[in-house]
Amino acid sequence: MYATSLGDDGAELRPLEVWHAGELLENIDRGREFIGRHIGLADAVSDLDGARAWLKSYADKRAADAGGLHGIWLDGKLVGGLLFRVWDTPSGVCEAGCWLEPGAAGRGLVTRGMRILLDWAFEERGMHRVEWQVSSANEPSINVARRLGMTREGVLRENYPHRGVRTSTEIWAVLAPEWRAARARTERNDH
Ligand SMILES: CC(C)(COP(=O)(O)OP(=O)(O)OC[C@H]1O[C@@H](n2cnc3c(N)ncnc32)[C@H](O)[C@@H]1OP(=O)(O)O)[C@@H](O)C(=O)NCCC(=O)NCCS
Repeated sequence: MYATSLGDDGAELRPLEVWHAGELLENIDRGREFIGRHIGLADAVSDLDGARAWLKSYADKRAADAGGLHGIWLDGKLVGGLLFRVWDTPSGVCEAGCWLEPGAAGRGLVTRGMRILLDWAFEERGMHRVEWQVSSANEPSINVARRLGMTREGVLRENYPHRGVRTSTEIWAVLAPEWRAARARTERNDH
């Protein structure tokens, strides 16, 4: 199986596919409360059939070049994932997202993995804009957007009904020239 290392702590990024349904269900079960607080993933992956159906929806997106999904494995255990929920090659616009089980939070796994995927989106796939849509109550995810150099562009007020409550969604995004400039600054500082 091909994998991309995220550092020297045993973390890896790999494609997350339908045959991982059992592993995904275990990952969500370990973090159901934490993951479900702001996003619908935990409710979609409520059992093995749900896990398979959700993974298949991303396999279909991948086949149509309309989205993508990677898992994050830590010491061989699936602990979270990174996704392109929306991918539109003609306009050069895509939307990224993520989740982790709580035991894997606080180590930079999502930030490290997203940097690799954003490099790929901008440099290999020619994307111009990567968006991040996040509940205004989801501080850890907003911090990820900040760490990725995204700009807060606005708020969709009370647009997302989640578990019976209307929540507001912040739109963050980074553009290709901004991404390249930030990377050049980091490389200059490293030398
Ligand atoms: C959103 C979510 C993935 C953020 O998790 P996270 O662990 O805070 O994010 P990262 O993996 O990027 O890790 C960043 C943390 O690791 C620390 N860290 C350690 N090493 C790091 C490194 N090499 N690089 C970056 N950060 C590092 C950072 O300081 C930060 O910790 P802090 O928040 O205490 O300051 C997590 O809260 C989650 O899964 N929530 C539930 C699902 C969800 O809401 N998804 C988002 C939908 S929009």
